Amino acid sequence: MRKNIVAGNWKMNNDLAETEMFLVDLKKQVFPEDVAVMVAPPFTSLHHTFNSLREHPVTIAAQNMHQSNEGAFTGEVSAKMLKSVGVSTVILGHSERRAFFNEDGSLLAEKVNTALENKMTLIFCIGEELADRKAENHFSLINRQLSEGLFHISEAAWENVIIAYEPVWAIGTGETASPEQAQEMHQYIRKLINENYNETIAKKVSILYGGSVKPDNAAEIFGQADVDGGLIGGASLKVASFMKIVNAF
Ligand code: 13P
Repeated sequence: MRKNIVAGNWKMNNDLAETEMFLVDLKKQVFPEDVAVMVAPPFTSLHHTFNSLREHPVTIAAQNMHQSNEGAFTGEVSAKMLKSVGVSTVILGHSERRAFFNEDGSLLAEKVNTALENKMTLIFCIGEELADRKAENHFSLINRQLSEGLFHISEAAWENVIIAYEPVWAIGTGETASPEQAQEMHQYIRKLINENYNETIAKKVSILYGGSVKPDNAAEIFGQADVDGGLIGGASLKVASFMKIVNAF
C-alpha cells in the first residue's frame, strides 16, 4: 500500500511568531492514522517547529538545501545543518526554485544525490508551464525533468523518494488541474518509473498533486487512483483549511 501524504509548503510565509501560532493550533488536532502529515516552514522556523512537534505525528521538511555538504556558499544551508535541527525531509526542484533561482536538471540531480547520501527523504517536484501544456509538450517535459533530475538514482533509493506533480499554471492561481488531468499525468509518471525501474517501485512511490488544492477540491483530486495526496501552498497556512485537506481522503 502506498502512503497517503499531505504536505504543507509554507514558501516564504510565517515568521517565528506566526509559526508558533500555527503550531499551538496544530497540536490540538487529531491526525488520521493513514495519512502522513508534513509541514515545510522556512529555514528560520525549522528548529522551533521540530522541537515543538516532537510528540506529534508530523514530519518537518525543508523547502530547499544546497548540493554541497559544507563550504564557502554564503547564504546556503546544507543537509547536515538540516539534520542537526531534526529535519530529514527536503523539497527539491519546486517550480519556484527552478524559475526564480535557475535550478536546472543537472543541479537538481546533484541535490538529489546529496540528500540521499545524507539519508534524507526527498519530495521531488516536477511540473509543466502553461505554454508546455498548450503546445502539448507536457508529457515530454515531465519525462525530461524526471530523466535529468531523478532517474539516475538506485532502485534502493526510491524508498526515500516522494514525487510531487505541480503544474506551474495551477500554482497560486486558483486554477487546479481537473481530477482527470491530474490522474492522467500521475499515471504517466508511474508508467515512466515502471519503464525506467520496475513495477514494484512504480506501485510503491507516493505521487502528490500540487497546485491550488483547497478544502473543497481535495477529496476529488485525492480520490484519483494514482494521486496519493497533495503538496499544499496557500491552503496550508491556516490550520483549519490544512486539516480539512488532511482529512479529505
Ligand atoms: P498553492 O497550493 O498555493 O497553489 O501552491 C502549490 C505549491 O506550489 C505547493 O508547493
